[in-house]
Formats: sequence, C-alpha cells, structure tokens
Amino acid sequence: MILMNLNENILNNLAVASAPVSGEKLAAELCVSRNAIWKSINSLRRAGYKITASPRLGYMLSPDNPKPCAAMINSRLKNCRLILLDEADSTSTVIKFMAEQGAPEGTAVLAHRQTAGRGRLGRSFISPEGGLYFSLLLRPDFAPELALKATSAAAVAVCLALEKNCCEKCRIKWVNDIYINDKKVCGILTEGAFDAETGGIKYAVLGIGINITEPQYGFDSTIADRAAAVFGKSVVNAKKKADIVADTLNIFMDLYAELDNMSFMDEYRSRSWLNGKKVSYEKNGKLLEGSVVEIDETGSLLIENGGDITSLSAGEVSVKIK
Ligand code: BTN
Repeated sequence: MILMNLNENILNNLAVASAPVSGEKLAAELCVSRNAIWKSINSLRRAGYKITASPRLGYMLSPDNPKPCAAMINSRLKNCRLILLDEADSTSTVIKFMAEQGAPEGTAVLAHRQTAGRGRLGRSFISPEGGLYFSLLLRPDFAPELALKATSAAAVAVCLALEKNCCEKCRIKWVNDIYINDKKVCGILTEGAFDAETGGIKYAVLGIGINITEPQYGFDSTIADRAAAVFGKSVVNAKKKADIVADTLNIFMDLYAELDNMSFMDEYRSRSWLNGKKVSYEKNGKLLEGSVVEIDETGSLLIENGGDITSLSAGEVSVKIK
C-alpha cells in the first residue's frame, strides 16, 4: 500500500478539479485543519508548483504550473500505475526495491530529479530538475534476449510520444539514445534481475530519462557538446510533461504486448540516426572504424569496413567527427 502525504493529496485534488477548490473544502475532504492546508500549499509553492489563490473561491493549479503530479499522469494511463517523487537516488533503484516487495508489472515511478541516476555501461545519468526521469516494472515471461527488444520498443515509444507532443523529428542512435537535431535528448536503460532457478527473467526495469528543458545553469560540461533538451530553454507546462510520460508508457505497453512479433522493428530501423555515418567501434577487443549501413531486421547494426560487413548485436559506437 502506498500512503500519500498531505501535499500529494492536495495536488491530486487540484489536478482533477475544473474550478478553484476552497481551503475549507480541501480541509474537510482530507480531514485536516485549514491551517494545515495553508501550510501545505506554501510548501508546494516552495517546491516549484504554481498554485493560484483567489479570495472566496480557493486554490487552483495555474495553467503555467511546470510540475506534473501523479493524478495528471495516472488519469491517462491504461495499464500502468505511477508514483511520483520529488527526488529519488534513481527511479530504477526505487522500482527494484518495489519489485522485490512484490509490486505488479506496470508499476512506474517518476522523479523530478535524481541524485544518482544511472546510465548505460556503468555511466551516471545527470538528472537535474527540468527532465522527466521514470522507470517501469516489467515481469516478462520470456527469455533474456527478448529484454533487448523491450528496450528497442521503448525507444520507438519515446520517439512517437515526443513527436506527438513536440512536433520535432526524433531519431534513434543505436542502440537506444533518442536524438533531435543531432543532439541526444533521451537515454534508455533496461536492467534485469535473473531467476537462478529457472534461468529466466525475474523482472526487468525499464528506465527512461528525457531532457525536457535545459537545466538552469546549462548541461554539465561532460555532456554539453552532445546533449540537448526537447523544448530548449522554453517553459513547458505540467500538462505537456504529463502527456509525454503517459503517451510513452501507453505506447510502450501496446508494443510490449506484441513483443514476440516485433511489430515496432520497421519503425525502429527507419529512425536510425547512424546510417551513412563514419563510426569507431570495438569488436573482439579491437578498436575499428567503418561506415554504418543500417540496422537489420533483428536490430543489429551493420557496419561496412573495407568491403566487409560487420554485425553488432549490442554495445556502443562513437561517431567520428570529420
Ligand atoms: C543512458 O543514456 O546511458 C541511459 C540513461 C537512462 C536514464 C534513466 S532516468 C530514469 C532511470 N533511472 C536511472 O537511474 N536511469 C534511468
């Protein structure tokens, strides 16, 4: 069971209200004093929620409030249930903990910022306020290899959700980084827990980090040359952010239900950002260079090198700057 605190209860009330809600009504509904409501509203404002107060009418989430709350997203989700945290070390760590406690497939956690966000290949994923960082619990009954396909399906889901909500063309840098205008706006990391008895997957955690707006002081110098935010420096309201998360999760769950037939693969391949680019890559411990041909129908990257074609099924390539 998840216990909600007063702040979350107030937010969820305001999110579904079509008119201002009086302090008196909130107090009666949540069984607390009006003073407690007033204190909570002020702490929410300090946390960045824009809440207007009109005399005699009450409180309302302002149309330009930048921070979504759980109710805004959950009201649109089909097969998932999301918990929203102001801050987490890593939403994927939170989901792993919940998975061990028996949480069902479709449990999702979103945080406004992460203090120890994880990226692929042991890297950290810098996650300041201004991004959407969320993880989803999957309990697949398939072989570990298919988990890779779930990651590719997630890349397609993010592209479709972003294009619907921001109108920019999204491309996939194999394996699963999302690029807009040649810059990375999103990273995806799938982690699995294995069942030693069956050799199958006990559960998998799909983690998605999207840069929505540029951090207040710009991107960290280690990623500034290749990172971008979907909406640049523009202010993005909570509804748009909630729509992006809900659309991503809903589209992903539809693709995940048909993972076996890989219905998303044509879409995945057609979005390849690397096609035609010169890259360096590692194969059998050697650092090599070649030109990317395409992603094949199994999801492997095909690279041409001196007339030979190399196929990479996993790993990472770096684009050579000419
Ligand atoms: C990458 O680009 O290397 C993958 C980044 C994945 C980041 C997301 S943010 C939500 C989830 N929590 C994490 O700690 N990592 C993933």
